[in-house]
Amino acid sequence: MPNFKFAKRIETLPPYLFAEIDRVKAEVAERGVDIISLGIGDNDLPTPEFIIDALCEAARNPKYHRYPSYAGLLSFREAVAQWYKERFGVEGLNPKTEVITLIGSKEGIAHFPLAFVDPGDLTLVCTPNYPVPPVAAGFLQGEVEFLPLYEENNFLPDLDSVSEETWRRAKMIYVNYPNNPTSAMAPREFFEKLVGICREYEVILMQDAAYTEVYYDPDNKPMSVLEIPGAKDVAIEFHSLSKTFNMTGWRLGMAVGNETLVKGLGKVKENVDSGAFEAVQQAGIVALQQGAPYTEQFRGVYRERRDAVLKALGEAGIEFVKPEATFYIWAKVPKGYGSSAEFVTRVIQEKGVVLTPGNGFGAPGEGWFRISLTLDTPRLMEAVERIKTL
Ligand SMILES: Cc1ncc(COP(=O)(O)O)c(C=O)c1O
Repeated sequence: MPNFKFAKRIETLPPYLFAEIDRVKAEVAERGVDIISLGIGDNDLPTPEFIIDALCEAARNPKYHRYPSYAGLLSFREAVAQWYKERFGVEGLNPKTEVITLIGSKEGIAHFPLAFVDPGDLTLVCTPNYPVPPVAAGFLQGEVEFLPLYEENNFLPDLDSVSEETWRRAKMIYVNYPNNPTSAMAPREFFEKLVGICREYEVILMQDAAYTEVYYDPDNKPMSVLEIPGAKDVAIEFHSLSKTFNMTGWRLGMAVGNETLVKGLGKVKENVDSGAFEAVQQAGIVALQQGAPYTEQFRGVYRERRDAVLKALGEAGIEFVKPEATFYIWAKVPKGYGSSAEFVTRVIQEKGVVLTPGNGFGAPGEGWFRISLTLDTPRLMEAVERIKTL
């Protein structure tokens, strides 16, 4: 038998922290325990019926059975540009050159560094954060420097602490607001400052906007980085229909912004994938054009869940960050546990509740855990009840 060796880029990946949790979860499930899984960020609510109808109709049209166009249907990209105008007031996006369709935003985020990162190029990445960007940059032998997100700085990176030399050397910075896992939002001043720095030092700004529609206060909506004047000189924003319209399984997203950055991503994609199913894009158009009232409804559901869980956590003496956006609660590991992993493992083993350990998103997440609000309120309440009795 040949001894096939993994490439070094796979072998040198950090140990997958969630694998241990999956192992414990499987053990607990074998004992017949009723497991409540609050680990994964996957909406439990179904995709609205009108979007499914649009897919069914489009799926019957042989026109969409062929290979999609690489950049995506122009009509989908036009709908994205229009949605950006209506939702964020971002005017004048050129759907032909400044918008590209993605097979979910993860695909775009993972592929983007292929277009711009050479071995040794420096990417700055906030941490704790969605783990895909540093892995993608690392695959290319890019250098990654982490910018820690701390509670005392409202989970924003301290841009002033980054040296001028680092800014000069940096090729790219990845930020994600509203943030997974901390649920923090970035204020306008933060984006203004970041855009200013990126323009000054010619740093590519990747902003991951997957959660802008999962917010709780209509008077304090998350913004797009493209609202900042001059952002288009340096920024590409990744967005998705996944969280906005409960379409995680459909795999549809978009990247929007600087023409060269969009073009580079497009060149990579031409060579590695063949685009998103056009019937799905057709349904995506309908979602973007008519989905706002449904998204509002979902926000109501998450708000109710959030408030119930926060109340119960408060009663249990567990400290947390009140989320302004996202369907995550970022909470502190109660005293008496050595680490996030120890707490999370005990909660699964003894109570059958799956949480995500904070350090799984990066070292500064140690001491924290994440709860996903992606189950109904009674189930969430039961989970907190069980945790209380640990
Ligand atoms: C911060 C963040 N960005 C991007 C994604 C990817 O979403 P999708 O590929 O479904 O668009 C996720 C998924 O959980 C996420 O949490």
